[in-house]
Amino acid sequence: MTILVTGGAGFIGSNFVLDWLDQSQEKVVTLDALTYAGNRENLARLKGDERHHFVHGDIGDRALLDQLLVTHRPRAILHFAAESHVDRSIHGPGAFIKTNVEGTFTLLEAARAYWSGQAEAIKGDFRFLHVSTDEVYGSLAPNDPAFTEAHPYEPNSPYSASKAASDHLVRAWHHTYGLPVLTTNCSNNYGPFHFPEKLIPLMIVNALAGKPLPVYGDGQQIRDWLYVKDHCSAIRTVLAQGRLGETYNVGGWNEKANIDIVRTVCALLDELRPSSDGPYARLITYVKDRPGHDRRYAIDARKIERELGWRPAETFETGIRKTVQWYLDHPGWVARVQSGAYRDWIETQYA
Ligand code: NAD
Ligand code: DAU
Repeated sequence: MTILVTGGAGFIGSNFVLDWLDQSQEKVVTLDALTYAGNRENLARLKGDERHHFVHGDIGDRALLDQLLVTHRPRAILHFAAESHVDRSIHGPGAFIKTNVEGTFTLLEAARAYWSGQAEAIKGDFRFLHVSTDEVYGSLAPNDPAFTEAHPYEPNSPYSASKAASDHLVRAWHHTYGLPVLTTNCSNNYGPFHFPEKLIPLMIVNALAGKPLPVYGDGQQIRDWLYVKDHCSAIRTVLAQGRLGETYNVGGWNEKANIDIVRTVCALLDELRPSSDGPYARLITYVKDRPGHDRRYAIDARKIERELGWRPAETFETGIRKTVQWYLDHPGWVARVQSGAYRDWIETQYA
C-alpha cells in the first residue's frame, strides 16, 4: 500500500512523512515543487529508505499527476502543498491562486480520473484528505465562541481566500462526483522545520542573531497554537476514521496573544542560551501592522475528539520548549534555509 503526500518537503508535510514512516511500513510518495518553502533536507533522514520516493514536481502538472497515480496506485492522497504565508499573499496573491486554487483543482481532477477507473472495492477504500486552515472562518471578537465546523466562511486575506476556495472545490468534488474526501481545518502549528518567516521561528532566529523581534501592531492578536506532531496525529486519525465528506477542526486549546508568544520564546532563550547583552525581550520592536490583520482565531476541536477520540498530546509549555531546543540544536539547518531568497524576503517585509 502507498500514500501520496503533496507538499511533503514543507514544514507540516515533512513532519507528517517522517512521523508516518516512523509508525508504518506503508510506502510514501512525496510530490513537492520545492518552492522557497520546500526543503529536501527536511527529509534527509529518509535517504536510502526504500519506503520513500521523492518526486520534484508541481500539483498543477496534470500529466505528471496522471503518471504518478497510475505508477504508484496510492490508496490515499494527503494534500498539504500550498503557498502558506499570509504576508507573502499580501505582496503577491497570484502564486496563491495558482497553487492553492488551480493546483488543488488539477489535483482533484487527476484524483477523480484515477479513482473512477478503479474497481469498486478499491474505490471504496480510497481517500483524498485536504489539509486546510482555521483562517477560512475569518476573525473573532474577544468574547465570540470558538470556530466550529458550522461557522460560516469569511476569509480576509488572499491566502485564506485561496484556501477557502480550495475547501469549496474539495467539498464540491465529493457532492457532485462522489470523490471520497476529508478536510481538516487546523490552527497555527509550530515545531521542527518551521520556516523562519513565520512568527515563532522568526523570533527564535532573530533573537539568537541579536536582531529586532518585529511584533505587528499592538501584539494583542490571538492565535490558537498546536504542536506540529499533534497536527500530524490528527491527520492520521482523520484518514483512518473520518466520515466521508466531513470537515474536522483541529486545534490545541491554546489561545495566546502574539506578544505573550514572543515573551515566552525570549524567556526560554534566556534560560537555555542566555545572552551576555541581557534579556532577549530587550529586542522586542513594535512595527507596522499587517493589512487586514485578523484579530483572533480560536478552534473548537470537540468534534474530532467526540467522533474520533483525538486530543493533542502536547501542552503549549511542553511543545514550545521542544521547539526552541530544536532550533538551538540545528544551527546548520537554520543557516542553510536563510539563503539569498530568504534575505530578499526579510528585506522586502521588514525594511
Ligand atoms: P509550507 O509553506 O511550509 O510548505 C508548503 C510545501 O508545499 C512546500 O514544500 C512547497 O515546496 C510545496 N509546494 C508549494 N507549491 C507547490 C506546488 N504548486 N506543487 C507542489 N508542491 C508545492 O506550508 P506548511 O506550513 O507546511 O502548510 C502545509 C499545509 O497546511 C498548507 O496547505 C497550509 O495551508 C496548511 N496549514 C498550515 C498551518 C500552519 O500553521 N503552518 C496551519 C493549518 C493549515
Ligand atoms: O491559523 C493557521 C495559519 O497559521 C496557517 O493557515 C498559515 O499557513 C500559517 O502561516 C499561520 O498564519 P498566521 O498569519 O497566523 O502565522 P504567522 O506566523 O505569519 O503570524 C502569526 C501571528 O504573528 C500573526 O498574528 C501575525 C504576527 N506576526 C507575524 C510575523 C511573521 C508578527 O507580529 N510579526 C511577524 O514578524
